[in-house]
Amino acid sequence: MDAASRERVVGEIEFETFSADDLEGISQLITAMSGDGRDLHLRDKSPAYYRWMYFANPAGAAMGCLARHGDRIVSSFAVAPKVMQVDGRRRLMGKTMDMFTDPEYQGMGLIKKCCDRAFAMARQAGVDGWYVTPSPNSYPIFKNKWGYSEDFELVYRTRMLDVPAVAAAMRPALGRVAGPLGRVKRRAAGPTRLPAGWTVAELAAFDAEADALWAEVGEGYGVAIVRDAAYLNWRYVENPDHYAVYGLRRDGLLRGIVVLKTTTRHGIPVGEIVDIVAPAQDARIHRLLLRIAVDHSRRLGCALVEAWSIRGTWLDRRLVLSGLAIPRAKIPFLLSPDHPDPLVHDKHAWLLTQGDGNDV
Ligand SMILES: CC(C)(COP(=O)(O)OP(=O)(O)OC[C@H]1O[C@@H](n2cnc3c(N)ncnc32)[C@H](O)[C@@H]1OP(=O)(O)O)[C@@H](O)C(=O)NCCC(=O)NCCS
Repeated sequence: MDAASRERVVGEIEFETFSADDLEGISQLITAMSGDGRDLHLRDKSPAYYRWMYFANPAGAAMGCLARHGDRIVSSFAVAPKVMQVDGRRRLMGKTMDMFTDPEYQGMGLIKKCCDRAFAMARQAGVDGWYVTPSPNSYPIFKNKWGYSEDFELVYRTRMLDVPAVAAAMRPALGRVAGPLGRVKRRAAGPTRLPAGWTVAELAAFDAEADALWAEVGEGYGVAIVRDAAYLNWRYVENPDHYAVYGLRRDGLLRGIVVLKTTTRHGIPVGEIVDIVAPAQDARIHRLLLRIAVDHSRRLGCALVEAWSIRGTWLDRRLVLSGLAIPRAKIPFLLSPDHPDPLVHDKHAWLLTQGDGNDV
């Protein structure tokens, strides 16, 4: 496009706040650009998903802006509000998401205008600041242009369950070498063995028991999304996608929750540990929840199991001790400038799980 046509197109573009009528167009833009297919499937991207994500969140509707050219949505961006506790106080923070400009319209300043508008709406709604898990494309924009801070290293901590399948997905030749080793290491999938007095069962929904668990354990975390029943039901039960939720009990009393999901990455099934609710100081409960997660993933034939983890924290250490030792990849994690609470820059303060993001 020559400079004159670009200028004409930019002049024709309209910027608008999202409405429920835009969900089909937003879903189309994101589905076309996200690279999903046989080898990659992380989550639903249907209009139903965006209705749930943007308009059913108990913390409030998403703050979103889109750019329209004629009847086409050509750029879109949103911030989801999250009720967090920071240093013992309730705060509203945001999570940025769905930042896309149609390739024909990139470099025209569209996402800049959408972001400016969404951030202004977020500030007006009382959101103190927001966290970002940028793609390689948006990382330099947030980090270098807009001055976001990167305080710690977030990684996928991974445990392989089927070595040849993982090796073959990474490099087919390596898969052939890893074949015999993988067969020796493979173990049968069975029910999770727990110590006497402990039981595990799938939960269909969260209720007063989950509220009581969070009321007890939440204070152990300096910075965390408030994982009460209202949040957990929205995030994992009302979500158009499917999650497996297990409740761990001791003598009948709920002591921990683990939320799991299966995705496809590099063509192989992956067991994702999406969330964990457990007492911060109790290594044993974490260990049992991770054992449940690994066994569940094995039963479903997953080639590996993984969780988000902030390197060098005690939670990271617990994952390593449970066999999720390999740091498969880094997830850039940025915070908006001028956050009023310095604790958000302390890696040891965070309870951060894949459920806090929006990829799975
Ligand atoms: C990332 C993306 C949304 C940018 O959209 P865009 O409409 O082309 O961006 P804009 O033209 O509004 O540019 C925004 C700012 O980023 C800068 N910028 C754009 N691309 C950049 C790049 N590759 N490297 C560094 N800066 C860049 C622009 O100069 C502008 O800076 P300014 O605020 O100082 O003016 C777009 O490239 C895209 O959709 N990429 C694929 C999907 C993706 O990765 N999305 C991110 C998911 S988190």
